[in-house]
Amino acid sequence: MSLPVAVVTGANRGIGRCVAEQLADLGYMVVIASRSLAQAQATVTELSSQERRFIAVQLDVTDQASVQALAGVLQERLGRVDVLINNAGVALDKFQSFESTSAAVFEQTLQVNTLGAFRVTQALLPMLRAAAAPRIVNVSSQLGSLERMTGLTVAYRASKAALNAVTRSVAHELADTSAKVNSVCPGWVATELGGMDAPTTPQEGARGIVWAATLPELGPTGGFFQEGTPLPW
Ligand SMILES: NC(=O)c1ccc[n+]([C@@H]2O[C@H](COP(=O)([O-])OP(=O)(O)OC[C@H]3O[C@@H](n4cnc5c(N)ncnc54)[C@H](OP(=O)(O)O)[C@@H]3O)[C@@H](O)[C@H]2O)c1
Repeated sequence: MSLPVAVVTGANRGIGRCVAEQLADLGYMVVIASRSLAQAQATVTELSSQERRFIAVQLDVTDQASVQALAGVLQERLGRVDVLINNAGVALDKFQSFESTSAAVFEQTLQVNTLGAFRVTQALLPMLRAAAAPRIVNVSSQLGSLERMTGLTVAYRASKAALNAVTRSVAHELADTSAKVNSVCPGWVATELGGMDAPTTPQEGARGIVWAATLPELGPTGGFFQEGTPLPW
């Protein structure tokens, strides 16, 4: 039987790369999806070992043609998708005030963080639906919690709040299937996006995402978690 397939977007660095590594160690064939095919290939070379299986695929989550091409390649080369990690993300307005945030930055943030996950999920859903235990993880952030909403960084916050809405809505539509669809905040993680002062390593941040990607049959769906603990919407 073929290995279960996990697709990780933005897997060439940061948290996505660590999620890919941890899922490969659990026996998944991991698709390293990256904006740059060369970087995806370099990541595969760096992470590969006798026990770990990866393939490299080009993916820009803002480009519908690229998303469709990903679906085509996966159907043709692997014929299945069991796990989707919508990890690709940007924070273009970090600590910026509402007044200094441009509509263009807001729009680009939504294109990557919200519509990116929407596009990839939609394109891979036929293969996910065919899987025995589909798992979709939307990598979100506490900054998108409406209950904890404060000022600054409005575009990023809104993009993650909207991503959480996508999580709940898709989870509802798949409620009568074996799928689990959840949002996960990895914590404040030391990456290019999080900055190097962050207290959590990418390996640690990846763990809660892998937890949601490998939930058992009776695990939760339509939730928002950090390290397996529910967060307020
Ligand atoms: N770090 C934190 O403290 C923190 C906290 C909460 C949530 N998160 C979330 O965790 C996720 C991963 O973040 P990270 O900290 O690992 O950031 P990172 O190191 O900056 O990595 C971001 C990844 O997203 C990719 N990406 C950006 N735009 C893309 C696009 N249009 N198409 C495809 N890939 C794209 C990047 O690819 P390139 O290399 O090509 O740019 C990169 O692989 C994000 O969704 C972020 O919002 C992070």
